[in-house]
Amino acid sequence: MRIGILYICTGKYDIFWKDFYLSTEKHFMASSRCTREYYVFTDSPLLYGEQENNHIHRIEQKNLGWPDNTLKRFHIFLRIKEQLMQETDYLFFFNANLLFMQPVGSEILPGLNSNGLVGTIHPGFFNSPNAEFTYERNNASTAYIPMGEGVHYYAGGLSGGRTKPYLELCETIRSWVDKDALNQIIPIWHDESLINKYFLDNPPAISLSPAYLYPEGWTIPFDEIIVIRDKSKKEYGGHKFLRRKNSFLDKIRKIFSLLKKE
Ligand code: GAL
Repeated sequence: MRIGILYICTGKYDIFWKDFYLSTEKHFMASSRCTREYYVFTDSPLLYGEQENNHIHRIEQKNLGWPDNTLKRFHIFLRIKEQLMQETDYLFFFNANLLFMQPVGSEILPGLNSNGLVGTIHPGFFNSPNAEFTYERNNASTAYIPMGEGVHYYAGGLSGGRTKPYLELCETIRSWVDKDALNQIIPIWHDESLINKYFLDNPPAISLSPAYLYPEGWTIPFDEIIVIRDKSKKEYGGHKFLRRKNSFLDKIRKIFSLLKKE
């Protein structure tokens, strides 16, 4: 079984790559029947491990800035659609700041006679009534969901599925982003609003619990299987810092610090 891991780290977000990668190697689909292919969309000068592991595929990706880095993630994946179709059976997208804490295996793989999609229930809304879900409520947007509809509020940070249906999701959402852009609309929670709309029409075969997106420092009644590292923390520089573009000097510094550690 060939598992494709979709990972975007442009700008300063490559700070998260090494820990994500090492935790994935340890915990994600560790069975010998699985191969993990990492598709890393990045402008980083050097990624930890990429010289040793030929399952790390670097795809040069320029930093689109905020919010396009998140809103256009499906455009980004589709840049290598043919490659993904040829090389993978399943695809999973992980936000840059995720970390595996426990083993994750075939329980997250949807069966062949299902619609093949996997969503993750947002840790902030697992026990909220749907009137409180932060769906897009502007009916001019393609992401619009009327009040009263929807069973779950899904998070943008982890989704996946069998390669073909997941790429279909990517194609549809890409077309919605482009349509909204023509009308100068950006959905309230960017790609997250759009994936919620897609999942309303196509409920995922597997809805993972917030155990798979457990925010660092929170107390919610789930196991911590995959943790969301807190971007506002000083050690990662905080949100604003992470969104800032890299200078030439930053890039040189990064190469030196990586070489020093190896
Ligand atoms: C926040 C989260 C955002 C977005 C929002 C939706 O907790 O940080 O990324 O998901 O919830 O209401």
